[in-house]
Order: sequence, then structure tokens, then C-alpha cells
Amino acid sequence: MLRIVVCVSGGGTNLQAILDAIDNGTITNTQVMAVVSNNAGAKALTRAENHGIPGLLMSPKEYADRAAFDQAFTEKMVELNPDLIVLAGFLVKIPEQMVEKFSNRIVNIHPSLIPSFCGVGYYGLKVHEKVLERGAKVTGATVHFVNEGMDEGPIIAQKAVYVQQDDTPEVLQRRVMEEAEWILLPQAIDDIANGRIVVADGKVRYI
Ligand code: GAR
Repeated sequence: MLRIVVCVSGGGTNLQAILDAIDNGTITNTQVMAVVSNNAGAKALTRAENHGIPGLLMSPKEYADRAAFDQAFTEKMVELNPDLIVLAGFLVKIPEQMVEKFSNRIVNIHPSLIPSFCGVGYYGLKVHEKVLERGAKVTGATVHFVNEGMDEGPIIAQKAVYVQQDDTPEVLQRRVMEEAEWILLPQAIDDIANGRIVVADGKVRYI
């Protein structure tokens, strides 16, 4: 049984997709131990509560400085000791010490086709605003392992989504979620839970 902790910051629709996929058997051999949020008002915490899953608040704002938060966050994760940490719309940079301790055990969903429209400053709605500003015709989503870089770890899965002429950032965000994110992230978790993925030479291979 893969024991996962899901980290969230906002709406939690990706968390919901994971919970639904576990309930309907799309994800097997997996249990959500806890949901961690940096934002006390996150709707994602309500979704966790509705599912009887413990919610934890871990916000940099509650610590004297970033180093103190990084240490406390890492210690909390070490204490929980999940098999996998899933960043599902978590907008806080993962501390390096945590990446070291959970090497190839942290995955992130990003709402673009990495290496396009990613890195510092590219998160949430901003990603879709930049896609529209650039006039890109295709975007999508990526699930990847987290390393010390920003959106740079080994890519697990990607799915393309067409941009439509009259898209607003909100409309595009919703289409990317529906057509890519809510499918890709549960699939990747199921693949990990069932031993279908290995990382070799910094790349993901399916076995
Ligand atoms: C999702 O689109 C996710 O891909 C994105 O934030 C949104 C969270 O939505 N994550 C990033 O931008 C990370 N760089 P949700 O809270 O409804 O799942």
C-alpha cells in the first residue's frame, strides 16, 4: 500500500481527482495519510475533512524565517514518513533538505508542457496568462519528480491540450485541468503505487 501525503495551496481540484480516483478504483494500492496546506483558507482542506483525512497547516508565515519553516516542514514529513509526497497545486518551494530526504519520492503537477512555461514565477493562472500572451497554440500539463530545481525533475507523464482562439486564462486553465491534470496525476500515482515506474539516469522509464 502506497501511503501518500498530498500538499495543496488552494482549490484542491487535483486533490479531489486523486480522492475520486481512489474511491472508484482508478488508483489502487494507495492511501492518503494526510493533506498539508500552507493556506488555512484552502478549499482543499475542506475536501480533505469531508473525506475524513487529517489536514495540517504548514505555512512559512508562521515561522520566524524561511530556514525555520524549511526545517519544520522537513521534520514533519520525516515524522509522517509517507512513501510519496504529491504536490497538487502546492505553491511553496520544497526545501532542498526535504528533496534530499525524499529523493524520487516527491511528484508535482505543473499546468504546462515542461520545459515551456515553467520555472520561477510560473504557477497557477499565471502560466495560462503567459501561454495566451505568447500566442501558443498547444499547451498541456506535466507530472514530474521534484529535484532541487524549479520544475526540473524527471518527467513522468505529459498531455497536450489545444489552445482555442477566444480562450481567457480561466477558460484555458479549466480545459487543461479537465483534459490533462485530473487524468495525468491519478494515473502517475497509480503507476508508482503499482511499481510501473523507475528512474534511471535522470529519466523515467516504464516497466
Ligand atoms: C493546478 O492547475 C496546478 O497544476 C497548479 O496549480 C493549480 C492548482 O489547482 N500548480 C502549479 O502551478 C505548480 N507550479 P487545484 O488546487 O484546483 O488543484
